[in-house]
Amino acid sequence: MNNAYIKDITFYVPDKILTNDDLSKLMDTSDEWISTRTGIKKRHVVGDSGLGPVDLAVKASDKLLNKLNMTKEDVDFVVFATSTSERYIPGSGSLFQHRMGLDNIGVLDIRQGCAGFVYAISVASQFIKSNCYKNILVIGAEVHSSQLDFDNDGRNVAVLFGDGAAAAMISSTDNQNKGILSCHLHSDGRYVDELGTRAPSSNFQGLLNEEMVKNRKHHIHMNGREVFKHAVRRFPEVILEGLNYNDIKIEDLGIVIPHQANFRITTAVQERLGVDENKVFSNIHKYGNTTAASVGIALSEALEQNKINDNDIVVLVAFGAGFYWSSVVIRW
Ligand code: ACO
Repeated sequence: MNNAYIKDITFYVPDKILTNDDLSKLMDTSDEWISTRTGIKKRHVVGDSGLGPVDLAVKASDKLLNKLNMTKEDVDFVVFATSTSERYIPGSGSLFQHRMGLDNIGVLDIRQGCAGFVYAISVASQFIKSNCYKNILVIGAEVHSSQLDFDNDGRNVAVLFGDGAAAAMISSTDNQNKGILSCHLHSDGRYVDELGTRAPSSNFQGLLNEEMVKNRKHHIHMNGREVFKHAVRRFPEVILEGLNYNDIKIEDLGIVIPHQANFRITTAVQERLGVDENKVFSNIHKYGNTTAASVGIALSEALEQNKINDNDIVVLVAFGAGFYWSSVVIRW
């Protein structure tokens, strides 16, 4: 059987930066409130450029193909993860395929929120291991800023999110000693109301009506404390599930690349695992929560900062709306 590995990964964030101080001019918040509760100092946003997640994904992917010296013809398949799709119908995959100029290849849409990137890597690795494809482009891309509620009613959510995209090439190798060792995927739909949007919705004639807009049902709503409580339990649980499955001891862990939801969640995960700070990567202070893009952006920066060496055990892990959560264990 072929093995699947992450050949390389890049990311792109829009130039415009929104700091906590900028937000405090739009709503009743402060750098102190946001920093102490989340670790976030700033986030990148598309502003009024009209760019969507597909545009950010194209920029990240062009960068990746250049870096790898690969052409569009080398890409066999795409897995595209976003929770902020440009259209209600269809998903963003075909828009991406067309704007990238990837001729008629198959594209799969993933909408598992913050767990989207890890789910996407898992799906891609199965296609590679079963010898369907040699090179799969995996995208996590998100534009949150256009749908956040930047006034006092939305301040508990709007301060958390940022825009960005990551692009990874998952490729086949006959080296059985490196690559993706395992994938563990979970969901629990009982908590669907704790985090997400309620409109537009096909339960309602017309999908969107005045009542929905008035009650801000098209903005993300969140029960922050409930999300926090589940996140700090599910992150360590699914990391340990992956390590145990592979008979890897916690002492042999190289680095965890977690979804960047909140620095307090990341710290709680690190403490529950009983590992050093440098074993759990964080860059939330620069980007906020970029949902499907966050694990990819974090992995890309961890590599740029030489935090990952050949043979290291790397765990990608995520938790978010749904609730969905997942981990992928890699021997780099
Ligand atoms: N600025 C100032 N005050 C605010 C803000 C804001 N941006 N937002 C809410 N508040 C107020 C509330 O109105 C409330 O005021 P009240 O006490 O007078 O009613 C108070 O602050 C709430 O404060 P805390 O209870 O101390 O807030 P908490 O410590 O629960 O932190 C937070 C809130 C940061 C949202 C936290 O619950 C959290 O991080 N949860 C996890 C959510 C998360 O990460 N979601 C991301 C998506 S899912 C994922 O990626 C895993």
